[in-house]
Amino acid sequence: MCGIFGCALLNGDNSGEVLYNSLKRLEYRGYDSAGQATIDAGKMIVAKGVGKIDEVNSSQGLSRMRGKIGIGHTRWATHGAPSKENAHPHLDCSGRIAVVHNGIIENFMELRNALQERGHVFRSRTDSEVIPHLIEDFMRRGKGFVEAVRLAAENLRGSFASAAICLDEPDKIVCIRMESPLILGIGTIGNFCSSDIPALLPYTNKVIPLEDGDLAIVDARGIKILDWRTGSALEREVLEVSWSPEVAMKSGFAHFMLKEIHEQPMAIRNVLRGQRIYYELAASMLKRASKIFLVACGTSYHACLFGSYAMANLAGLTAHPVIASEFEAQCKNLIDGKTSVLAISQSGETADTLNAVRAAKARGASIIGITNTMGSSLTRLSDVYIGQNSGPEVGVAATKTFTAQVVVLLKLAMELARSEGRRNGAVDSLAEELSGLPSKMEAVIRASEERVKGIALKYSAKGSFCFLARGVNVPTALEGRLKLLELSYLPALAYPAGESKHGFIAVVEEGYPVIFLAPRDSTRDRILGNMMEMKARGASIIALIEEGDEELKQLADDFVEMPPCANELLYPAIYVIPLQLFAYYVSTLKGYDPDMPRNLAKSVTVV
Ligand code: G6P
Repeated sequence: MCGIFGCALLNGDNSGEVLYNSLKRLEYRGYDSAGQATIDAGKMIVAKGVGKIDEVNSSQGLSRMRGKIGIGHTRWATHGAPSKENAHPHLDCSGRIAVVHNGIIENFMELRNALQERGHVFRSRTDSEVIPHLIEDFMRRGKGFVEAVRLAAENLRGSFASAAICLDEPDKIVCIRMESPLILGIGTIGNFCSSDIPALLPYTNKVIPLEDGDLAIVDARGIKILDWRTGSALEREVLEVSWSPEVAMKSGFAHFMLKEIHEQPMAIRNVLRGQRIYYELAASMLKRASKIFLVACGTSYHACLFGSYAMANLAGLTAHPVIASEFEAQCKNLIDGKTSVLAISQSGETADTLNAVRAAKARGASIIGITNTMGSSLTRLSDVYIGQNSGPEVGVAATKTFTAQVVVLLKLAMELARSEGRRNGAVDSLAEELSGLPSKMEAVIRASEERVKGIALKYSAKGSFCFLARGVNVPTALEGRLKLLELSYLPALAYPAGESKHGFIAVVEEGYPVIFLAPRDSTRDRILGNMMEMKARGASIIALIEEGDEELKQLADDFVEMPPCANELLYPAIYVIPLQLFAYYVSTLKGYDPDMPRNLAKSVTVV
């Protein structure tokens, strides 16, 4: 899951600066090494190194590179450790062709052996380096640059988004795509290619998401797209993106994550504005299904867990949540033409989720996608999709996109309940309460942030935490655990509270911090029992409780008061907020960067 950017400029020769600024916007896709190649005065200039973009810029002067055309890359290692040799761009033997690549070339060993036998010399341990050598090989056999890239694409197996430049045709970038995202941008100062839309926004809001099998020739004056499998010309729709570049900036917050936590009320307003027609289409598809699976990874999987509670409670439907990477092993024999798979992916590009979707589709299932990224692979694989409209999320840890997914799923469950003629009164009052959710979220952020910061300060030196909840709050507890784990590198735990007696309780000793989600709902009295059990063993109790719940206040060592909800399905969207803030503050207190936790990436496009 690397980031790629390429530019072909009309007038200026500051491609180094354009690439460097754009790679910084793509850094959340991976940041173990970076590099750029430009063509300047008939020469291929390459600079690359290990570390974050700014470190590589300091040592290599990325932003000072000249030339009208260039490609850049920010890497998240798959084949070959992070090192200067393994950083992209990669060159052919002659140094006339430079290539950046995102994805995995499955047949790279086979190709590498064959190319080495024909005299090609490899400098890295990456799968990606076969691409420039393959292009070179075809050019040695008399093919032009574009045709050589097309033939190279035909020989690659696996996933790739790749951009190549060549001294023989120094005015163009040739891009190919299979399973990894690549978007073209049509600007006034030139044309661009990028792994993601936010990096294009400073230059243009006119974009063309490439599809699998596309080859694009990008020069400063225009863009041509071919099908690399047939060589025939293709027409692709130009989309206008409404995100402004400012949306993707920090707006005065110390980190993108904090900004994105604060953006949640606005993100939910956008979800509530989403057009009903998409929910109706998705609901009618789900109603016809005899089996429903909810499939996703990471935070999006926690949204799936919530979705299964919401569909069962509101619409009386069984929807099985499944972790995407387990989907084939667990469910493949259950899928038929009457199955619906509801796949959730913020990025729309998570390889495990897409693989599950492809496997289900191949067995005749209908696919409903929920994603934040229009034009992503998930939208193209889905029969119907719902956009979560959260705007770009830069922090690697999902925050606003989680609450948006929760509310999309709630709306979908409500649509299903309505179309089944079930519980209309209850659904109507839930709809009314839902319209007030953004203001309630604002109030929670305002009222809880300082208090949560204080709790983070008190407990940040603890070596582990456990999150306990019951009912529809269990997915929130799991999400709170995930946030803390990924940002603070602490081995945090989370359980349905009733299950804590079957194992976890053995861990509890004097001062072990247990975080309870304890709204005054149908689970509250049992949660109280679990708190007593933990307290009796010396645990420190941190509780999210409902305003005025004096009994729980007495029991807890620390508490955060939360507003009441008439319908308990609304709790997850507000109770997750103090947990996100807790993870954020523990991480910053430990001196970590919450926007870029180590070893993680925003969009995991490898299996
Ligand atoms: C990565 C990210 C998580 C995200 C997960 C699924 O692990 O770091 O924040 O929840 O991928 O991503 P998706 O884009 O499919 O929702």
